Amino acid sequence: MAELGVNIDHVATVRQARRTYEPDPVWAATLAELGGADGITIHLREDRRHIQDRDLKLLRETVTVKLNLELACVDEILELACRLRPDQATIVPEKREEVTTEGGLDIVSNRDTVANALVRLQDAGIVVSLFLDPDASQIEAAAELGAHAVELHTGSYALAKGNSRQEELDKLVSAGKQITDLGMTLHAGHGLNYQNVKPVAAISSMHELNIGHSIVARAVMVGMERAVREMKALIINC
Ligand code: PXP
Repeated sequence: MAELGVNIDHVATVRQARRTYEPDPVWAATLAELGGADGITIHLREDRRHIQDRDLKLLRETVTVKLNLELACVDEILELACRLRPDQATIVPEKREEVTTEGGLDIVSNRDTVANALVRLQDAGIVVSLFLDPDASQIEAAAELGAHAVELHTGSYALAKGNSRQEELDKLVSAGKQITDLGMTLHAGHGLNYQNVKPVAAISSMHELNIGHSIVARAVMVGMERAVREMKALIINC
């Protein structure tokens, strides 16, 4: 059964809309844990548009399940990560203009930068996952660099309609096999929701799903604890 990492960035987005103290992502993380979250995921972006340094510090102290920090290869953020030591770091690409992480990392072209970040994080005792598109050459490069895990970008699957949805799922399945054959742990995320999660949760050896937008959107309507409980129930029997 895949574990559920609940991404709470959007809770911080609402707070930052007024630059106030509520809603507090630390509180949201506790409720997500009560709903059955196996992990709490946050993305500390260079522009600090949602999660703040204070959130990372407090969550490091209060989260009792896995704390997964998404981060780009930016010196200042890497330094913070190595100091505060989340259980896991997921390296993602980051562009100023994007609304959300648009694609996987290009480690084939940015090998040295990613390799450096990976070694720094691993030396600090942090499990490192790389966020990649289901692309054989990128996955091969991730294994060569010694990544513990690869998180497959499920955005194209989530956006696909009709027959192309199955094609996108097939790409995730074969990329997943390549990842586990190469000895890495399989994670996935982006754009997953209550309608499309089951086929991804059912992929062989799927270890962790990171889901944010759809859970926070549902939590606005029914509350965080119930929103997480409902997502867990979908994943649990896959
Ligand atoms: N995984 C990664 C690496 C991400 O960057 C994001 C978005 O922050 C997610 C998962 C969650 O995506 P969504 O909010 O669409 O569920």
